[in-house]
Amino acid sequence: MTILHVSAECYPVAKVGGLADVVGALPKYQNRIGHKASVVMPYYKTNWVERASGKGIFRHNLVVLGKTFFAEVLEVDNELGFPLFLVRIADLTDREKVYGYEDDSLRFIAFQRLVLQWLLTLKKKPDVINCHDYHTGLIPFMMQKCPVFTDLKDIPTTLSIHNAQYQGEFSHNWGGLLPEFNHSDLGLLDWYGKINPLATAIKCAWKVNTVSPSYMVELQEKANGLEGLLRQEKAKCVGILNGIDTETWNPSTDEYLVKNYNIRTRVAGRKKNKEALCKEFGLDPSKPLFGFIGRLVWEKGADLLPEIIDTALQQHDVNIILLGSGAPEVEYQLEALKDKYPGRYNAYIGYEERMSHWVYSGADFLLMPSRVEPCGLNQLYSLRYGCVPIVRRTGGLKDTVIDVGDGGNGICHDQTSVFDVVYSIGRASVLYHEKKFFKENQKQMMETDHSWENAAGEYVSLYEQLVKTANNRKT
Ligand code: ADP
Ligand code: GLC
Repeated sequence: MTILHVSAECYPVAKVGGLADVVGALPKYQNRIGHKASVVMPYYKTNWVERASGKGIFRHNLVVLGKTFFAEVLEVDNELGFPLFLVRIADLTDREKVYGYEDDSLRFIAFQRLVLQWLLTLKKKPDVINCHDYHTGLIPFMMQKCPVFTDLKDIPTTLSIHNAQYQGEFSHNWGGLLPEFNHSDLGLLDWYGKINPLATAIKCAWKVNTVSPSYMVELQEKANGLEGLLRQEKAKCVGILNGIDTETWNPSTDEYLVKNYNIRTRVAGRKKNKEALCKEFGLDPSKPLFGFIGRLVWEKGADLLPEIIDTALQQHDVNIILLGSGAPEVEYQLEALKDKYPGRYNAYIGYEERMSHWVYSGADFLLMPSRVEPCGLNQLYSLRYGCVPIVRRTGGLKDTVIDVGDGGNGICHDQTSVFDVVYSIGRASVLYHEKKFFKENQKQMMETDHSWENAAGEYVSLYEQLVKTANNRKT
């Protein structure tokens, strides 16, 4: 089966968060089980893209709101395990950041239009199109309702929801960003008075999946205004738990680590990584080390981190290391705490891929007090590297981490609150000193299998149902 993934991110081409990790791995594993999966994404000015070489395979002058943009699709040479296509739209996609521009609606709609414009010209069209998140959510609508693209209407589409907090809504004043459509179809675009690309995708895609089963259940209760819609569309909704790329995330070959290790050599190997990490950040390797890695946003419970860190360091004899960026006021408080706890707490405010690998391999515990976590990959990397995850029971965290008290390998709490997290840090410190148990727990964590092999097949089964439906429609 030929599968086209359409996404705003893909590791290592351009990464903001876990979406990139998923889109950078899922197609590779789908290809390994005998399919032909590829990725199309915008051309950004990232280091990876600037170093890449490839050839133009399609050109088009895209007219949006009366303005013409020169656009092309490039097929890029790579060793990622799948064909990669970059859509370059002059003045729109070729910028340094992935998101965060005032004209993001225009940028991503232009990208989606260009993808469809290109697909129209292909002799062999994909059997299925997998759209990821709201940035690609208008594709199913345009294929069905915009006459310029309705030649594509029989290709099944799926929407993978990685994060329903972000819906990409914009005013109807900008409805002209889309190609012509019949105004009787406005209801498919509208959600509470705005054009809402995520809602539109839920209405128009043939299937909808979230990145963990629990997140799908939670979204039907509370989804930033989309819960009713998700309940209504329940029949086509399913949760598929993410996997991880066990080649990129492999402590025995990871080039970022000071010392590689495997299950057998984990204790000595992790000790070396912890010592190096502590040396770099002026911490004490003899103390239990707690890490946090992530976007400093409300969903991740980041607003509580300054108080959590302050309280934990007062109550427990532990060290804390933090890697993240996001809300400026949180960044400021996290920086300020460094002066209060020299030698016990340090932070790197920014995005640094290499350092994230150090933290998974060197910290003893990883904090994830998320309020919302559609899947979460950090806890899966953490398990693979033998770093005990401390998670709030929500979404994918609930599906992947079981408390040691219930026969699992992590530490779980129910609330995103200072009390719950600090209490868990206390439990973790006790566990840390139970040396024999702690080492055995590390072994069990590293043995858990969250590779993409199974989940890649689950996606394919989903597509297969759709292809069958498409064939039935044709006959
Ligand atoms: P989300 O996509 O919501 O941010 P995930 O847990 O799915 O959360 O994925 C986060 C990914 O981003 C992981 O690969 C994690 O290691 C990485 N990451 C997050 N913040 C940083 C950072 N500041 N520096 C390096 N890597 C980071
Ligand atoms: C989103 C979610 C995260 C998930 C990732 C990959 O960014 O916030 O929980 O792991 O997508 O699916």
